[in-house]
Amino acid sequence: MILLKGGKIAENNTLVAKDILIDCGRIARIAPFIPADGNEVYDCRGTWITSGAIDVHAHLREPGYEHKETILTGTRSAAKGGITAVMAMPNLTPCPDSVANLAYELKAIQKDAIIKVYPYGAVTKGEKGEGLAEIKELAALVKAFSDDGRCVSNVKILEEAMKLVKECGGMIASHSEAEGYSGTRAESVAVERETELAIKTGCAYHFCHLSTKKSFETVRAAKKAGADITCEVMPHHLFLDEEDVKGDTNAKMAPPLRSAEDRAETLDALLDGTADMIATDHAPHAPDEKAMPFLLAPNGIIGFETLMPLVYTGLIKTGLATYKDMQNWVTVNPSNRFGIPYGKIIEGGMADIAVLDIDNAHRYDKQKTLSKSKNTPFDRSLLYGTNVLTVAEGKVVYDNNRRMT
Ligand code: DOR
Ligand code: ZN
Ligand code: ZN
Repeated sequence: MILLKGGKIAENNTLVAKDILIDCGRIARIAPFIPADGNEVYDCRGTWITSGAIDVHAHLREPGYEHKETILTGTRSAAKGGITAVMAMPNLTPCPDSVANLAYELKAIQKDAIIKVYPYGAVTKGEKGEGLAEIKELAALVKAFSDDGRCVSNVKILEEAMKLVKECGGMIASHSEAEGYSGTRAESVAVERETELAIKTGCAYHFCHLSTKKSFETVRAAKKAGADITCEVMPHHLFLDEEDVKGDTNAKMAPPLRSAEDRAETLDALLDGTADMIATDHAPHAPDEKAMPFLLAPNGIIGFETLMPLVYTGLIKTGLATYKDMQNWVTVNPSNRFGIPYGKIIEGGMADIAVLDIDNAHRYDKQKTLSKSKNTPFDRSLLYGTNVLTVAEGKVVYDNNRRMT
C-alpha cells in the first residue's frame, strides 16, 4: 500500500496534517498517524495534499504532430504538474471527426497515457467549419465537441451542430474568435452570437479561454438568465498581459495576452463565479517553429507544469482565494461540467491526488519539463505550490524524490 506521510489536507479551508493510506486505487484511510509498517512511504511534509487537477483544455498532438508532443510525453508532463485527467483537443491528423478517425487517437491513449485522457470530438469535418462531423456516432465516445484552434464562423453550421449535440445530450466547447474581426472584438462578437444560439437551441455550451471584459459581461448576463453556459480562463490570461509579450513568441497564443484592464476583468470573473474553471490550453510547439518571426510563429504555450503553482502563488498565497476555491476551479467544477470523476480526499475516494509543496518556492525551469516542447513565458518564475508527487488511480505517476521506503 502507498502511505502519504505528514502532508496537510484542507478541512473547512484550514490545513490539517494527516497521513493518507492508499490501497487498490482508493483512499483506504485518513488519520493523524498511520504507521509505516510495510507500506511504500512518501514524505509529504510541507505539502498540501489535494485532488489531482482535471484540465479540460489541452493539446496532446498525437496523432499527427508527434514532433511537438505525444500522448506519452504530454501525459507525463501533466502528471508532473499534478494533473490526473486531461481533455485532448481535436486539432490532430487524422482529425477525430468520425468514429474511424477517433480510433487512432483512442489507440494511442490506450497504449501510452499514464493518466486519464478524454478526447474531444470535432464539431465539423476536419475542423474546416463547413460540413458537420459524425456528431451522433461520436457522442457515445467523447465527453464534448470542439473545433479548437478555430472558430466555427458559419453561424448556420454552428446552429445545426448545436441542435445535434443537444439531441445527443452532449456539449460544445468553443474557441470563440470570429473571423473578420480583430483584437478583443473578435472574441466578444463570437461570444455574443454563440450565446444567443446556445440559448435558442438549448445546447450546453462551454466557452474556452475567455479573456475580455465584454465576453465576461455577456456570459455573466446569460448565466443570470439561466443559460446552460460555462467558461474557462487560463493562467496566462490571469497572470500576464500584453506588456509581457515583448516580441517573444513564447508569449504568443490565441486568444492573445490582453490589456491590464482585461486581465483584471478575467480575475474578477473568476472570483465572482462568472468563470467556472481554470484550464491550461497546453499547446506545445517545437523550438524551430517558435523560432520563426513573431507574426509567423504558431500560437500556443505549454501549461501543464505551471498550472498548480501559478494558481496557488497568484491566488491562494496572496489571500485572494481559498484552498476550496482552487480545488473547485481546477478539479471540482471541471469534473461536474464535463462528467469526469475526480479524486475526493476522503476515505473511499478515488486516489487521484496531487501533492503541492507550499512551504518552499521552486524556480520553474523549462529545460526540465517532461513535455517535448519548451514554449513557455513562465521560465525561471519562482513559485510556491509546485507539485512534487502525483497519484493517479492509486498509482504513483510522478515522484520528485519523495519516496522514503
Ligand atoms: O494558442 C493556441 N494554441 N490557441 C489555440 O486555439 C490553438 C492552440 C494550438 O493548437 O497550438
Ligand atoms: Zn482555442
Ligand atoms: Zn486550445
